[in-house]
Parts: sequence; structure tokens; C-alpha cells
Amino acid sequence: MASVERGNEVVGQRLGDYWRVPAAAQQYDRRRFSGLKGRLYRWLEESAIQQALSGLPPGSAVLDAACGTGRVTALLRRQGFRPTGYDISAAMIAVARERVTSLGYDDVPLVAGDVQHLPYPAGSFDAATCVGLLMHLDTDARVGVLRQLARVARERLVVQYGRVQAFDRARGVVIGWPPGRVRYPVTEAALRMDLERSGLTERARFWVLRGFSSSVILVLTRRDPAPLATN
Ligand SMILES: C[S@@+](CC[C@H](N)C(=O)[O-])C[C@H]1O[C@@H](n2cnc3c(N)ncnc32)[C@H](O)[C@@H]1O
Repeated sequence: MASVERGNEVVGQRLGDYWRVPAAAQQYDRRRFSGLKGRLYRWLEESAIQQALSGLPPGSAVLDAACGTGRVTALLRRQGFRPTGYDISAAMIAVARERVTSLGYDDVPLVAGDVQHLPYPAGSFDAATCVGLLMHLDTDARVGVLRQLARVARERLVVQYGRVQAFDRARGVVIGWPPGRVRYPVTEAALRMDLERSGLTERARFWVLRGFSSSVILVLTRRDPAPLATN
């Protein structure tokens, strides 16, 4: 059992169930990114993602895992990459399809599937992005996703974490409300452990709004550069 975020609530259910609801998918962007705070957050987050992508050659193939409504997928396409959007929710993909089509991008594959079982051979992409997913997963699931992404991406992973201080996490346990309003806020030690278990090394870190938000974008590469053969 995992959890998903609904507005300001965290609700226990299988991950992905909430986002499979067509109405939730249709409302996702408005609920998440409308209003001054939402727009500012989005701008800061997308700036951090762009910095994390710097140096990746134009035309690189990028898997946007858990692409949702295609916000990051469209950003990747706009930056001159060749993105593939991938998400477990057909409803979210339908919205992503509307987005990329309305932007005139008719060359962006959008694929439905579970990021924990990617159907791509090792090294199929130059890079992979994963924004808005890991903070909903427990440790083992996070490591499973990171290993999958590391298997298919040759050059780098750009992933978002909700990274909190140990004090915030302890306080969340006491007040019964996790910091960042996500089920699995991750301390620095837990983050380090995830990377260790996934065979990944951190190359750079871009805070979305340091001191105010737990959201951080990491650039990761494999410790062993040889392609991982197993699925
Ligand atoms: C918070 S949204 C983030 C969407 C997008 N990356 C963004 O930042 O706007 C999380 C997305 O993860 C997707 N998701 C959840 N579990 C998944 C899984 N196991 N495999 C693929 N996608 C998944 C959901 O369907 C949802 O679209």
C-alpha cells in the first residue's frame, strides 16, 4: 500500500490509483499550478530541471518517467531533446497528449506503463527524468525505480526528491502530518542510502527554493558506467 497526494491531503491507497481517475487528471495542472504560489513553484522547479539538464546535447533521447500531464515532457521537447513520456495513468497521458499536440509537437511518444517495470532495453535513452514520483514511494520502491531508470539511461538521471531535515521528519511523526505533505519525506541519510543501493552517484543538486521547500532536483550517474543488462 502506498499513498498519493490529493489537494492538501495524503491518502492511503495503491500508488497511481488517484491519478487514473479522468477528473483528477483533467484538474491536475489547475489544482497544482494555478495561483501565484503554484505558478512560482512551477517556474522555480522547471528552472532547476533545466539547470540539471545543462550539458546534455540537443537531440538526446530522454525518458520522462511518471510524466503525468506532460509538463516536463513538453519542457524537454522545447529544450531540443527527444522526450518519451511514460506514465501508469492513461488519463494523465490523455491530458499530456492534448498538451503536446496543442504545442505543435506531434513527434512525442507517450506510453502507458509502470515505471517499476520499464519495457525498454538497457541503455535505450541518453537520460531519464523523474519528477513528482519518488516522494510517494517507500525506500524499496524508490530504489527499484532508480535502478530501472539507471538501467535504461546511459548518461544521467534527473530526479526530484522531497528532502527534509531529520528534525522535521521527527516532528511530522509527533504531529501526525509528514513534512512536505508527502508520505515518505526523505532525510539526507536516507537519500544517501537510496543512491548507495541503486549504484548511483550524485553529480549535482539544485534546490527549488532552499530553506522553504523540501523539493530538490538531483543529477545522478551510475557508479559502474557499463550498461546494466538485467531488467
Ligand atoms: C505528481 S504527478 C507528477 C507528474 C509530472 N512528472 C509533473 O511533475 O508534472 C505523479 C505521476 O506519477 C504517475 N505514477 C504513479 N505511479 C507510477 C508508476 N508506478 N509508474 C509510472 N507512473 C506512475 C502518476 O500517474 C502521476 O501522473
